[in-house]
Amino acid sequence: MAAKGIIHVRKLLGALVILGLLGAVGAWFLSAPRAVYAKLEPSLEQGGDKEKGRVIFFAGGCASCHASPGQEDRLKLGGGYSLPSPFGTFYAPNISPHREDGVGKWTVADMANALIAGVSPDGSHYYPAFPFTTYTKMKIEDVKNLMVFIRSLEPVAGKAKAHDMPFPFNIRRSLGMWKLLFFDRAPLVATGAPDVQRGQYLVESLGHCAECHSPRNILGGIVTAQRYAGGPDAEGKGGWVPNISQHAKGLGEWTPKDIAGFLKTGFNIEGDVVGGTMGSVIKNMAELPEADLLAMGAYLKTLPVRESPPKSAAPAKKE
Ligand code: HEC
Ligand code: HEC
Repeated sequence: MAAKGIIHVRKLLGALVILGLLGAVGAWFLSAPRAVYAKLEPSLEQGGDKEKGRVIFFAGGCASCHASPGQEDRLKLGGGYSLPSPFGTFYAPNISPHREDGVGKWTVADMANALIAGVSPDGSHYYPAFPFTTYTKMKIEDVKNLMVFIRSLEPVAGKAKAHDMPFPFNIRRSLGMWKLLFFDRAPLVATGAPDVQRGQYLVESLGHCAECHSPRNILGGIVTAQRYAGGPDAEGKGGWVPNISQHAKGLGEWTPKDIAGFLKTGFNIEGDVVGGTMGSVIKNMAELPEADLLAMGAYLKTLPVRESPPKSAAPAKKE
């Protein structure tokens, strides 16, 4: 009897080991970086509109992270801006059209894979400190426009510092599992009148407002049920990001015009000027056409009322 029992246990252990291995192989396979656009797809590499690309660039806030720090030119994209996080410090790379140090040799497909799939030209995962989690909703036509605009800028020599990440966060491959949990590549479901739809596109695919104005769980994923409810300011080196849902303490009392005016000037409805990382967001938004800012206001007015997380709260638990 006893011997039979041991055999059973052995069999069971064997089965568990095999299942474990299959699980690991499955996870490895599922988390593999996958590009979505083939290199040099001819229809991608032709055309594009520089002026439209400029709007996309500012709506996406690329300059906030990629402009060289310590100088005023927001179109000098040498990188080097530091982004502290609970997982280590990131340094935004050079995305100027420099052929060696920036994206000068990149195709539109390379840029599309970075922004839409979070995958690099050499086939590794990017960290979500780069908000591709938002840009994934971009239209491919706009990636093309953006690329035409970036190629028109001044090449800046020099690479940014390497990220300062402790083990195990320095293993890019592990980001595949993070992506499985938190990276939603489903396209936007357009809702509302045409102006609301335009606003939705600018806010949800480019402005990445939710990336700062939402609490995150312990794995750094946005807590969906509290999207836009505000939370601790991870990127801004401390502080609090306000609620911008339709809560009375958020944008409940603001009109679309108030929101547009704020995005252009940085003054809220009480006449106070905004600071911190939002100051940099305003510099980007101020470059957008008035109609786009009003559209963003119209869309933000459609967001639900959401209660802010308690201010003392440690990072929210995984949902
Ligand atoms: C919140 C800061 C932030 C914003 C905003 C941002 N990026 Fe980045 N970006 C990063 C970081 C950090 C990385 C490095 C990611 C990594 O190493 O995995 C990165 C990486 C990249 C890369 C890959 C570069 C390389 O050498 O592999 C490209 C291309 C890029 N960003 C383009 C853009 C564009 C275009 C925009 C605007 C639409 C943008 N980024 C907005 C922070 C940002
Ligand atoms: C990089 C992080 C970041 C991003 C991206 C961001 N915000 Fe903010 N926002 C902040 C911070 C931090 C504050 C608080 C600034 C302060 O207290 O002075 C703020 C403040 C605000 C306020 C002011 C509320 C008030 O009552 O004064 C509004 C409105 C706002 N943001 C809207 C937006 C919108 C719309 C977007 C997207 C286009 C956006 N934010 C993107 C960080 C961000």
